[in-house]
Amino acid sequence: MASLGIHNIRKTYGDRAKGVEVLKGINLDIADGEFLILVGGSGCGKSTLLNMIAGLETVTEGEITINGKRVNELPPKDRDIAMVFQSYALYPSMNVRENIAFGLSLRKVPKTEQDATIARVAKLLQIEALLNRKPAQLSGGQRQRVAMGRALAREPQIFLFDEPLSNLDAKLRVEMRSEIKLLHKRLGITTVYVTHDQIEAMTLGDKIAVMKDGVVQQFGTPEEIYLQPANTFVASFMGSPPMNLIPATLSVEGERVTAHVRIGETEAHSAALPLNVTAETVKQNLGRRVLLGLRPEHMCDSSRTTGAVAVEVPITMTEITGADALVFTKLGGVDVVCRLHPRSVGQAERAQVHFDMTHAVLFDEASGLRIS
Ligand SMILES: Nc1ncnc2c1ncn2[C@@H]1O[C@H](COP(=O)(O)OP(=O)(O)OP(=O)(O)O)[C@@H](O)[C@H]1O
Ligand SMILES: [Mg+2]
Repeated sequence: MASLGIHNIRKTYGDRAKGVEVLKGINLDIADGEFLILVGGSGCGKSTLLNMIAGLETVTEGEITINGKRVNELPPKDRDIAMVFQSYALYPSMNVRENIAFGLSLRKVPKTEQDATIARVAKLLQIEALLNRKPAQLSGGQRQRVAMGRALAREPQIFLFDEPLSNLDAKLRVEMRSEIKLLHKRLGITTVYVTHDQIEAMTLGDKIAVMKDGVVQQFGTPEEIYLQPANTFVASFMGSPPMNLIPATLSVEGERVTAHVRIGETEAHSAALPLNVTAETVKQNLGRRVLLGLRPEHMCDSSRTTGAVAVEVPITMTEITGADALVFTKLGGVDVVCRLHPRSVGQAERAQVHFDMTHAVLFDEASGLRIS
């Protein structure tokens, strides 16, 4: 059982003065038993942070704590952490069984107990038939599962996973995702999990830290991150398709605030959309260019929402995904995606879209920060 603290963590590779700073003051607190997701684009510093928690990278500045105790100087073997690496390094001369048992043998776990653990893990990961093979005789996805198995054979204080499912096919990925979730529920071991995949992030995480260029952009629950993104980067990084960011102007009449959005290509048509913000908020931002943030599912059919504002928009393109019709239109001069029911679109050139303004958020266009 362990809580994990990441306090003002900085990392510079190479010379401190001339080197490149890849982590620029990270602060995260993970409670005992929590599942933290680190998500962000390639090169933003996710693996570096994970390696520092494991003790495989030195800390340039700041403090990492486990159960409140500083571990910066503690060697990896004394941290009681099990890690699955992005490049799942397996011992090439050992077969799958020996790879999984390696940590157990080191700690002199009795043979019968080892066998039981191997059987349990192999069943979970569907690699029972591969136990006598060497890593060279496995596919990438199979190797990845063996690497997972080596970590899962132990019950450490903390699990660290660096994109453990990236090499699996879509079906196995979904299965493994559920298994990891169940496993976490059952064992309650504090976990830090790196992924590119936002579905994984949303479904697995108790908390998500969205990173960009070595800085945490937002740290919160999946719901907070999804519905109340801190800035336009988070808004467009999470969600598929991402949140629409529509250039708008604001007007205030008494306490009533309205966002005005240009429809289609011409200046002639615009929609007036009521905003659930105080006149005070708007006054502070008067004159600034704002972006109206609305997720595609909040620009939808009347059937899916109540109390929304209906607007007729021109359709530039439609993609039928099966359950949904993604309808593309132009609002405020930018491309916008609405999520309608396939039945309500057909061959039409225009569509009736209901803007669910209770879910609208506003961003300052210049800084990208959320205003409300
Ligand atoms: N040993 C190193 N020396 C110098 N720079 C490094 C070293 N390791 C990583 N970097 C740089 O640090 C930055 C962060 O790398 P890191 O591996 O943490 O990114 P990441 O978020 O895990 O990316 P990905 O999603 O591609 O795995 C990158 O710009 C990378 O080039
Ligand atoms: Mg990485």
